[in-house]
Amino acid sequence: MSVITVCNHKGGTGKTTTSIHIAAALNLVGYKTLIMDLDPQAFLTCMMDVETADISSTSLDLFRLGSRLSDLEVLKLPSFDLLPCTGGLGHFARKLTQAPDMFRVREVLQDQNIYDTIIIDTAAAVSVYVLNAMIAADTLMIPVTPELQSVHGAEQTWDTAKEVRKKWNPGLKTAMFLLTNVHGRKKVHRQYGQYMRKTYGNLVMDTVIRTCASLAVVCQNGTTVFETYLDSRGAIDYSSVADELIRHVLPPAKLGLEGG
Ligand SMILES: Nc1ncnc2c1ncn2[C@@H]1O[C@H](COP(=O)(O)OP(=O)(O)O)[C@@H](O)[C@H]1O
Ligand SMILES: [Mg+2]
Repeated sequence: MSVITVCNHKGGTGKTTTSIHIAAALNLVGYKTLIMDLDPQAFLTCMMDVETADISSTSLDLFRLGSRLSDLEVLKLPSFDLLPCTGGLGHFARKLTQAPDMFRVREVLQDQNIYDTIIIDTAAAVSVYVLNAMIAADTLMIPVTPELQSVHGAEQTWDTAKEVRKKWNPGLKTAMFLLTNVHGRKKVHRQYGQYMRKTYGNLVMDTVIRTCASLAVVCQNGTTVFETYLDSRGAIDYSSVADELIRHVLPPAKLGLEGG
């Protein structure tokens, strides 16, 4: 089992798009995958076009009720399972002021054996939820558009990751940067892309997510590019990210092993 937290302290860097599409890509190759939406603004849940009436359990239950994963009724979407977020998570943060509150998600996930991969989508701000997600993770994926603010946010996230590993999560194996929404013809993208590779070396994933209109379109209608635009750059690039994860980070999928 692997827990991948997708984070960057700057907004609009492709965190939610990346969470959805790596989950879908891994699911397609046999990794049973759950996304936890831990962003109080709930954009991922909103993008997946979930009907409120279909929701039984939400990520708030992990904090409010101390629920175990097996107690929860997650949503079974075509591309992955989802523990959605609805209003209330943001307000509840005021009650999470004790040190053990940072470890809730890790505790919940410690003994789960339902999923091969759990992907946690996070908000941009540093909050008790982002810390929970970083403390529960064995892998961090930091999507970064090669532009000043996004790179700055990624570097701050990297500093937070080092602190989290030192103080609270020695099990954090790796943090990787993923260049997203990259426009090859933009000089600034080439310059910041080079800067990231020079500074962080093999921590920057080989795959680059190119700008892809289909990625922006599907996120408004509750699907993924793997369902509707299989030939798009988005589908090709996120499949390649999943390949890299499988080669370098993830243990084999249980299903894959059983099938083989
Ligand atoms: N590779 C891409 N090509 C085109 N648009 C993208 C790409 N990645 C993300 N976007 C768009 O950029 C915006 C921000 O992406 P999002 O994933 O919501 O970022 P975050 O979760 O970091 O705030 C969204 O409108 C999304 O559709
Ligand atoms: Mg988001």
